Amino acid sequence: CSYLVEKDRKYICDVLCNGLARQEYRGYDSAGIGIDGDSPDAPMILFKNVGKVAGLRNQLETGIPTPSPFDEERSVDPNAQKPKTDMTRVFLSQTSMAHTRWATHGVPAPSNCHPHVSDAMTEFSVVHNGIITNYKELKLVLLKRGYAFHTETDTEAVAVLCKYVYDSQPHKRLSFTELIKTVIKELEGSFAFVFKSRHFPDEIVAARRGSPLLIGVKTDRKLKVDFVDVELPQDDRGPGAVGPKLRRSQSRAFLSEDGMPQPIEFFVASDAAAVIEHTRRVLYLEDDDIAHIGEGELHIHRLRRDDGLSSVRAIEHLEIELAEIMKGQYSHFMQKEIYEQPESVVNTMRGRVNFDTRSVMLGGLKAYLPVIRRGRRLLFVACGTSYHSCIAARPVFEELTDIPVAVELASDFLDRRTPVFRDDVAIFVSQSGETADTILAMRYCLERGALCLGVVNVVGSTLSRETHSGVHINAGPEIGVASTKAYTSQYVALVMIAVQLSDDSISKTARRQQIIDGLHDIPAQIRKILAMDKALQQLAKDTLAKEKSLLIMGRGYQYATCLEGALKIKEVSYMHSEGILAGELKHGPLALVDEHLPVIFIMTRDSLYPKVQSALAQVTARKGQPIIICNDDDDSVPESAKVIRVPRTVDCLQGLINVIPLQLLSYHLAIMNGVDVDFPRNLAKSVTTE
Ligand code: G6P
Repeated sequence: CSYLVEKDRKYICDVLCNGLARQEYRGYDSAGIGIDGDSPDAPMILFKNVGKVAGLRNQLETGIPTPSPFDEERSVDPNAQKPKTDMTRVFLSQTSMAHTRWATHGVPAPSNCHPHVSDAMTEFSVVHNGIITNYKELKLVLLKRGYAFHTETDTEAVAVLCKYVYDSQPHKRLSFTELIKTVIKELEGSFAFVFKSRHFPDEIVAARRGSPLLIGVKTDRKLKVDFVDVELPQDDRGPGAVGPKLRRSQSRAFLSEDGMPQPIEFFVASDAAAVIEHTRRVLYLEDDDIAHIGEGELHIHRLRRDDGLSSVRAIEHLEIELAEIMKGQYSHFMQKEIYEQPESVVNTMRGRVNFDTRSVMLGGLKAYLPVIRRGRRLLFVACGTSYHSCIAARPVFEELTDIPVAVELASDFLDRRTPVFRDDVAIFVSQSGETADTILAMRYCLERGALCLGVVNVVGSTLSRETHSGVHINAGPEIGVASTKAYTSQYVALVMIAVQLSDDSISKTARRQQIIDGLHDIPAQIRKILAMDKALQQLAKDTLAKEKSLLIMGRGYQYATCLEGALKIKEVSYMHSEGILAGELKHGPLALVDEHLPVIFIMTRDSLYPKVQSALAQVTARKGQPIIICNDDDDSVPESAKVIRVPRTVDCLQGLINVIPLQLLSYHLAIMNGVDVDFPRNLAKSVTTE
């Protein structure tokens, strides 16, 4: 945060902690905050706490900062309690920073927690998301030059490098921005940074490459923004899209109208959720942008002036509501998001599926349809749950488009340096639009000339900005680390794309109409399953809670449901679970089956039903303990088995229904196992590092 308005420390810490709490789902190993000292000469005051933001808040209540690794150097007794900070002290102008960490280098410990500082006097301090891959080399060089290190993190090397650059310039003439540019030119890897320095009081520099960063602006002042250049061609990503896409203009974004400083607050954050309660006006930084905030003005510079890219970013108006990022009546975000699905799938279809004319129109794809249809192959690239939505949609794409489809995990796709051609159409599916591997895969495909499309939830995210076009799934903010409503909305969005792509094929008209009719009924059918929640909770308690392991089996359209169900269960309940293609049962998994192992069979009616029945017979013959998910009108399932009956829909949409009981089971298992469902250990919502 940067303020040019009278505020006391308590207010500033509250703003920062609230912002952190809203971004906590991105990482929650530890949290830290750095605020200005009492005088410009005093070092920054640091509060750091292992665990969640609530712990940091408690520490701030005491006003007692965290002991510093520099205490010995300063001849301060490291065991002595630090003096209490006066939280009521008022500042006219103040810059402060905070961070929640998802450990990549160094265990969660106060010393590894951000902000990181260059030295005992906190000449430079920094918070960082991402990974600096050449930090070991940098550290070696700096150690040789006599600089000391106190943490195991890559970020500390950046803070110390700032000091080195500052110390090395003979007349100390570099501006803060120039200094940070010099530092960043030495860095490899991915980052979103916020820097602060005692040499440049009341200034902040922020920079990004690969990790998201946005700036919220709150002021009554009329913002003067001059755009001298073009609006990009209309790119209709659906009703969630905000603001025109403006790319070019002059570099000075904000000026006070009369040249006088006026109250203004800037919020630099990696997620819009952190700023929404203060302002709806945000601008998203692009890779290699360096933003400078000082004296109530924001200036955006490019790392290299000669890169041909402009440095003006559009101010966008955030559309999300505060209520959307709050739990409301629910105990957890995951539960809320499971329950939102009847509405979120409607929002995905809104304005795009016409149930009267039985047609689909996705504005973002319209101009590209001929190119896609001529494509040699459709390449789906994603990670985690988003990958599963691609597996779920692959059969209907193959059926409706007759184009070969490859579904790739982004990391593996990059590891193999998969051949990609100009006539490939690559579709990147991501809830956050910020997953590092998916972004790198997109850039890899862009370089090779493929048409790149995004299927993304977060408007303004890197994937949504850098792809040629795409579809926003409009599921609304998803906060729970385990993805639920994004999965069903991605699935629906992909089915819509397949339907639209095939609308030039007369022979497939009946099938398209059948699918569109099916889509119409999905929200009501999801509601029916949500109404079974109590029974599912009981089933989880009676049958699964004490188990160590679980298999989920199915085939065809339901393979994705098996994978996604198993992922949900392991993510939030920590029970080992595996999604198994029933066709592979005899090739290994059958060896696991005995009277102790629970196996969930996804056995809803489709053309592969007899084959799944035969897999079930093999499991029961070995005394396996099946739980069967079947259609509500199915009377041929064994009477002895435990069953979960679900409404029947079109085969290619049945996965949208079948996944819901698995989401609910995983939620209840997590609660029974005492897991903090929205914050499962070791995981993060958005994996912005490779
Ligand atoms: C993380 C999350 C998953 C998510 C995956 C891909 O692992 O914990 O829930 O499915 O990233 O994220 P994306 O934002 O690209 O869909």
